[in-house]
Amino acid sequence: MSVRRLAPPEMQPKDFSFSKDNLAWAKKEITKYPEGRQQSAIIPLLWRAQEQHGGWLPEAAIRHVSDFLGMAHIRALEVATFYTMFNLWPVGKFQVQLCGTTPCRLRGADDLEKVCRKRIGDQGEVTKDGKFSWVEVECLGACVNAPMAQINYDYYEDLTSESFGKILDNLAAGKKVKPGPQIDRQLSAPVGGATTLKEKA
Ligand code: FES
Repeated sequence: MSVRRLAPPEMQPKDFSFSKDNLAWAKKEITKYPEGRQQSAIIPLLWRAQEQHGGWLPEAAIRHVSDFLGMAHIRALEVATFYTMFNLWPVGKFQVQLCGTTPCRLRGADDLEKVCRKRIGDQGEVTKDGKFSWVEVECLGACVNAPMAQINYDYYEDLTSESFGKILDNLAAGKKVKPGPQIDRQLSAPVGGATTLKEKA
């Protein structure tokens, strides 16, 4: 895991506050937690702030959320800088989170990384058209379908450099893409179909 820092001052907006709808949502969200434990809502609130701010969390949003929850700014900053689901720098319309943990590495993540570097640039860069950015992340819990990447909210699994490149092409062209395994298998079932429990009881 690399060091995660806030974007430099020149990229930071001066202010952030929840929109009217998000403020109403946040007020309701904290009622899910026991009295006195409202700070436990830090992750969903940071996530909503990130969504409102076009996919990344500026410092002003982290401060806003910590003030809303009545907690020290440093506590909210600790959470925002720990989890890679929080983007601390501007991201593209399609943010690629490429799994770089051992099972995905053993199954071809190096090739996918080359695709990212060639088509998008270095980690954290946004393409000139604003469409793509990428970052390497730790295991996303889909190792059985390695190698894989998450793009915005969806997982794309059993990738090759060809299928991954095609997905990026289609997203860039505004075409529909199919999340999940990119080979002929059902979710995480064995490749080639069932191998056990085939006999009727
Ligand atoms: S190692 Fe890549 S999803 Fe687990």
